[in-house]
Amino acid sequence: MKTSIFQGRSFIAEKDFNREELNYLIDFSAHLKALKKAGIPHHYLEGKNIALLFEKTSTRTRAAFTTAAIDLGAHPEFLGQNDIQLGKKESVADTAKVLGRMFDGIEFRGFSQQTVETLAEFAGVPVWNGLTDDWHPTQMIADFLTVQENFGYLKGINMVYVGDGRNNVANSLLVTGAILGVNMRIVTPRSLFPDKSIITLANQYAAQSGAIIQMTDDVPLGVKDAHVLYTDVWVSMGEEDKFAERINLLTPYQINRHMLDLTGNEEVIVLHCLPAFHDSQTEYGQRIAKEFGIQEMEITDEVFRSSNGRQFEQAENRMHSIKAIMAATLGNLFIPKA
Ligand code: CP
Ligand code: NVA
Repeated sequence: MKTSIFQGRSFIAEKDFNREELNYLIDFSAHLKALKKAGIPHHYLEGKNIALLFEKTSTRTRAAFTTAAIDLGAHPEFLGQNDIQLGKKESVADTAKVLGRMFDGIEFRGFSQQTVETLAEFAGVPVWNGLTDDWHPTQMIADFLTVQENFGYLKGINMVYVGDGRNNVANSLLVTGAILGVNMRIVTPRSLFPDKSIITLANQYAAQSGAIIQMTDDVPLGVKDAHVLYTDVWVSMGEEDKFAERINLLTPYQINRHMLDLTGNEEVIVLHCLPAFHDSQTEYGQRIAKEFGIQEMEITDEVFRSSNGRQFEQAENRMHSIKAIMAATLGNLFIPKA
């Protein structure tokens, strides 16, 4: 018997859930976080097996799915790109049918949105999108939980995303904010504006929620009165040939102290899904420093380390929110209404 409207459902894009359901997942994440902090067990997935499929690398998403599954009493199994036949010797549909007979839920991170959609179509168990080229939906529950924790509410918040306006995180923020009634601004050069189909979708949701949606290439106008400044890497996984082009285009869109001043809000919080290029302490950072003579990209080290930054709370919230998503869709929980 289905005990909740979430049971058995996949989460492959934000639009899979309506506003009430997304709000429920955010609130349920906060509840599970409180249980975890109080040391109260919450084994809603006792005896379940969870497959973790990764075509692209990951720290937070992999770690969050792993620890969340274990806290829920489930067994997570990592199946990396070079470990399984997926797409190489076996079709996505055949792989989905096999995994769905052995596992109770499947996470997928990779390139094509079509892959995660095919998995969801043929697996017969919930499939959760851990990031594709187009969307990063599980990240959204953590991000809006972090905003809600900091401000106590979501509707009417001005969230400003600066940087690569057409990547997976920007797409997801724009649509999720529009569903939730969060005013979303994408501040990016015109050549990096989100795809028209994404803007149309966001505008449709905004008409229902009352969110104000704006795209602009004008930094002072775009960041004014921001409650939240959000950025992501300028070059996403799979686009590593684009560093020169993006550095050239996006340098004026770096989150730095001057941009924080332009918001006119001393209390503005800064979010970043991570990993971040805020110094040259990484292999990539050193290569960029050598080739382009810069130490920082989308966010300065000073702002990253400042009291405005909430990126590590946000990273922790990945675990609580992924736990909520898995428990709600697989745990046969009694949820009278969402
Ligand atoms: N934010 C995020 O998805 O991080 P990872 O790439 O480390 O999983
Ligand atoms: N836009 C980034 C997000 C990483 C979490 C990427 O796809 O690489």
